[in-house]
Amino acid sequence: MPKDDEEYARPARPPDTSSLAEVREASSECTACHLYKRATQTVFGEGPKSASIMLVGEQPGDYEDVAGRPFVGPAGKLMDQALEEAGIDRSQVYVTNAVKHFKWEPRGKRRIHKKPNSREIAACRPWLEAEVRIVKPKLVVAMGATAAQTIFGPTFRVTRERGKLLSSKLAPRVLATVHPSSLLRQPDEASRQREYKLFVTDLRTALRAASEE
Ligand code: URA
Repeated sequence: MPKDDEEYARPARPPDTSSLAEVREASSECTACHLYKRATQTVFGEGPKSASIMLVGEQPGDYEDVAGRPFVGPAGKLMDQALEEAGIDRSQVYVTNAVKHFKWEPRGKRRIHKKPNSREIAACRPWLEAEVRIVKPKLVVAMGATAAQTIFGPTFRVTRERGKLLSSKLAPRVLATVHPSSLLRQPDEASRQREYKLFVTDLRTALRAASEE
């Protein structure tokens, strides 16, 4: 099995184009880190090029790895519900991930999600940069620590900064919030409800910010 810190021979070099389809096609061949070896496929972002909001998650999960589409599993379903409640039409937003291959470890017959490390995140960043460059969203929503730290650096804390409108090198306006899968991990129904409501509130803030001139 490849080691996490093996030398990466071919850095990610998205083509200099304004076509999402061309960048997506190039990303399907990405070998900039070792994650491609275990993943089924690259899961590139999806959504209209004209989207004013870009949602960024961590990495595809088990379902996304098989489907080849971001946020189609349980976390994605909860995210869709929250988007609807916040008045955001998923088909109008661009949805992607900081890392575009599923990182996992076998446990029996199951594939267990593993958090991407900083080298894997850095290796994948050119794809996210290309998506932001082409879509030019009015607002990027970073969902969870991995997405937020990809954008703001390793010292960023979602707990401290969530719901605020911030600026970054990657995109002029960014709002950080929790990852929808954190809602699924709440210990009881009351905290799940409370966290879900806060997530919807952050999405409403995002919609307002993206609607401003
Ligand atoms: N979690 C993520 O961060 N992204 C997905 O696409 C699915 C689950």
